[in-house]
Amino acid sequence: MNKWFFFNLFLLLIAVWKVMTSYGFPVIQIHILFGIMGLFFILFNWTRHAVFSTIRDTPDRRKKIKFANLSKKAMPFHRWTGTTALIIILFHAGFVLNRFGLHLENPKIISGLIAASLLTGVVISGWMRRIKPSGTKRIVHLRLGLTMFFLVLLHVLL
Ligand code: HEM
Ligand code: HEM
Repeated sequence: MNKWFFFNLFLLLIAVWKVMTSYGFPVIQIHILFGIMGLFFILFNWTRHAVFSTIRDTPDRRKKIKFANLSKKAMPFHRWTGTTALIIILFHAGFVLNRFGLHLENPKIISGLIAASLLTGVVISGWMRRIKPSGTKRIVHLRLGLTMFFLVLLHVLL
């Protein structure tokens, strides 16, 4: 198993834990529901990175083929899960700002805004890559995704 599967699982578990210990649980407030749903969609797409890393790192040919097929199966959804993630997160941000206001001194709001900007970049570079692929666009899509992963982790931890 590639280390990225564990990183992704780690982020997922922390987020679920945070939601379960949030105010009023088991009733989940609407802004939190959109946050965790957006995270599910993001992680579904980001796991592609774990799958690709496994394909690169494993010497086992059978495993390479198995993972490549798995990735191919998920590909038709990739652009739609990614775009949906952005829409869900925009709702998350909308509900949060409506409820708490734009408090730029709040680390949760700042980290969220940066994470959402990165997500926007990931989605835009994804579409650009799909329309006309290039090496640069591939790296941009990947690096923005990587940075976003750590910002979302920070956002959930704060
Ligand atoms: C990629 C973008 C984002 C993701 C994946 C995300 C995810 C989440 C998740 C899963 C939660 C619930 C768990 C927790 O309390 O930590 C949450 C809470 C929160 N998010 Fe986000 N978020 C994102 C963007 C944003 C943005 C843009 C804002 C601000 C406008 C924001 C503000 C908040 C705030 C204030 C909370 C705490 C709410 C509370 O405790 O009642 N988030 N976010
Ligand atoms: C949450 C948002 C997204 C994340 C985290 C994400 C992540 C990834 C990752 C990790 C890869 C594999 C990277 C590599 O080439 O090594 C990838 C590939 C790709 N992504 Fe995204 N992506 C997202 C959204 C999108 C969107 C909205 C599109 C729009 C079309 C898109 C288009 C593509 C394309 C065309 C590839 C190459 C597919 C292939 O070679 O099989 N992505 N993405």
